[in-house]
Amino acid sequence: MIKKGIILAGGMGTRMSPLTKAVNKQLLPLYDKPLIFYPLSVLMLAGIKKILIIVNKGQINQFRKVLPEKNNLGILIEYKEQAKPGGLPQAFTIGESFIKKDNVALILGDNFFYGQSLTNILKKNINLKSGAKIFIHPVKKPHLYGVATLDKKNKIINLLEKPKKTKSNLAVTGLYFFDRKVIEFTKKLKPSKRGELEIIDLLNIYRKKNALKAELIGRGGSWLDTGNIKDFYDAANFVSAIENRQGLKIACIEEIALKKNWIKVKNINSAIKFYGNCDYSTYLKNLI
Ligand code: DAU
Repeated sequence: MIKKGIILAGGMGTRMSPLTKAVNKQLLPLYDKPLIFYPLSVLMLAGIKKILIIVNKGQINQFRKVLPEKNNLGILIEYKEQAKPGGLPQAFTIGESFIKKDNVALILGDNFFYGQSLTNILKKNINLKSGAKIFIHPVKKPHLYGVATLDKKNKIINLLEKPKKTKSNLAVTGLYFFDRKVIEFTKKLKPSKRGELEIIDLLNIYRKKNALKAELIGRGGSWLDTGNIKDFYDAANFVSAIENRQGLKIACIEEIALKKNWIKVKNINSAIKFYGNCDYSTYLKNLI
């Protein structure tokens, strides 16, 4: 069972363009709410209530302004800083005292997931006892991502980070479930040629031990890596189209908490006060 999750929301200056480097992307609004709400909502939908958010050095206070530790979501939020972007697996050494001896989920702060199949997929996999799980999704340009090649029995036979050439179109999305061995395995990793610890190397340790499984997010789900500017705007347009059509919000974290009975109507009222006069608050008012 996974009860803890980490959102890696740092990485300033890694592979961002010089134009977007200066700001923290995860606090930028994706349509009508900060980008960080989207990965947070995925962890909440999975039923995870203990969440560590890892941010760039010096940025905790900025994040607190939208997601304070004392929140109206009925969840535990902790913050830690990443001194330098040394790679995704650093989440597990930075988060060692948070993880303790538990299993843990990791989601990248710039990943956007949506779709009816998503909640079912999360429910199905949250009971992970041992090993690790990746969530894969078909894409047109696999060379931009980690890529998994599966055999006919859906066994992962190959995992590569941004391969120049590959026959597989299955991208490894930025959502991962790990058992408690993740800290031990992370400590064995050596930096790659680009000077970072690589998530693919960590996953390959599990794969070589026959302890890595893949779950396909198929046509019923969408995944976008908003780290690239086109996906960022595609995701914003997508959220706008769905929300305006249905009148339902994507990644309304208070709505998820209310539906899960983690909070009461009075928390929604406090959230409305906290956010002030905006479309998001109006939606919260209509909820209650
Ligand atoms: O989005 C899925 C992809 O994410 C996977 O398919 C790849 O296997 C994985 O390596 C990763 O690739 P990216 O090129 O998107 O990684 P990027 O360096 O852009 O980092 C992803 C997010 O994590 C981004 O929001 C910045 C943050 N980050 C990154 C690093 C390296 C950190 O917070 N700390 C870091 O040290």
